[in-house]
Amino acid sequence: MRKKIVAGNWKMNLDLEEGKELVRSLIQEDLSAEVECILIPSFVHLSEVSKLTEQTTLKLGSQNNHAVNGGAYTGEVSAKMLQSVGVSYGLVGHSERRIYQKEDAETLSAKVQQLLKNGINPIFCCGESLSERKNSQHFETVEKQLQLLWELEPKEFEQVIIAYEPVWAIGTGETATAEQAQEMHAFIRAQLQKNFGTLAAQCSILYGGSCKPGNAAELFAQEDVDGGLIGGASLKAKDFAAIVNAF
Ligand code: PGA
Repeated sequence: MRKKIVAGNWKMNLDLEEGKELVRSLIQEDLSAEVECILIPSFVHLSEVSKLTEQTTLKLGSQNNHAVNGGAYTGEVSAKMLQSVGVSYGLVGHSERRIYQKEDAETLSAKVQQLLKNGINPIFCCGESLSERKNSQHFETVEKQLQLLWELEPKEFEQVIIAYEPVWAIGTGETATAEQAQEMHAFIRAQLQKNFGTLAAQCSILYGGSCKPGNAAELFAQEDVDGGLIGGASLKAKDFAAIVNAF
């Protein structure tokens, strides 16, 4: 049985008080015990969110980490630091970082390694741009993005979660149809199977991109969609809870 997961990526939103209020509201919600719920606030909110969620089933995630474990890198945050404040999941390769920070495969691979070394589960993001989709290059793009995972040991791969996020669906209000999501998720699982055999069946593959209460149930009903990576809709407790309970 694969883990069902819903992760809320707060991105660069909410000040500390707003973030704490969101967590308090979420704790009041009746969240399905079958779903692993992960909150991914900004670095500066991690410690406070960690304290608030300590006695709950809510898990903590990071939006980014540096490619090395420590040293003279002003302004950066290492996986070791993240682990020390209670982070158990880490986003790697979100399209916003690939685009704005020009993160390449080599950097992303080092970041995945750092997370694994520090006992944090990487949530590895992949997904094609609108032009790649229009030119029917979406499978090729995702296949290329996944390649850096093939160097992992099976034991390491077991810790990895995949998030498929078509760039054209992120923050645009335009969601991939359930069929488009399932088609890509099945493709991703086939790639995982080629490289890691039966372990592929245990890997959770999340969908991200304008996932909201109104479309989550249909997306999550697809055979290879094991949950969601939620941006905008994760900033409202009621919406996030409705998505969690959409399975
Ligand atoms: P969105 O963002 O739900 O606002 O489209 C998803 C994401 O980027 O993780």
